[in-house]
Amino acid sequence: MTALEIIPYPHPTLRHKSKSIKRVDKELKNVIREMFELMYDARGIGLAANQVDLPLRVFVINTTGDPDQKDEERVFINPVIDSPKGKSEAEEGCLSLPGILGMVARPAQIHVSAYDLSGNTVDFVADGLLARVIQHEYDHILGVLFIDRLSESARRQLDQELEAFVLDMDNLRATGKFLDDEKIGQRLAVIESKYC
Ligand code: NI
Repeated sequence: MTALEIIPYPHPTLRHKSKSIKRVDKELKNVIREMFELMYDARGIGLAANQVDLPLRVFVINTTGDPDQKDEERVFINPVIDSPKGKSEAEEGCLSLPGILGMVARPAQIHVSAYDLSGNTVDFVADGLLARVIQHEYDHILGVLFIDRLSESARRQLDQELEAFVLDMDNLRATGKFLDDEKIGQRLAVIESKYC
């Protein structure tokens, strides 16, 4: 698991439903550190393991997006979300869909429980931006993207831009940059057998 990079839509790992992690070793801790760095480099505020081509139930968040604000860094391992309350609509983007923005309606408040990197339980009620980012990243580990949650008309307006991503992926595969679906599946299965 060296040299992680953020994979773009429509890479198939983005549609993979991640399994729970059973062990956290030094290598996985390094992966999570690297996920923060990739997120900061891309000017994001959240990143899920699927987005770095890993089939694991983990995501990282720093809603400030500021690498100097380490105390704002949050790691969610095997997260569970429940008790959704209210409704809020706001614009979202995604590091796997650079340049694409859309309005997404989500519960305004959620309860989340998870484990952090030290194995401690994380358990709290989130609202505002943090609730939105947690839900966006949680979707990722289920294989769901924010474009799946757009209204039909909003989604249709993005058709051409999304088609351009599909063509780019075809080209990247033709150059050998990304594996074919079968090899990607095999690779994910190896990682799952190690951590899940
Ligand atoms: Ni995203």
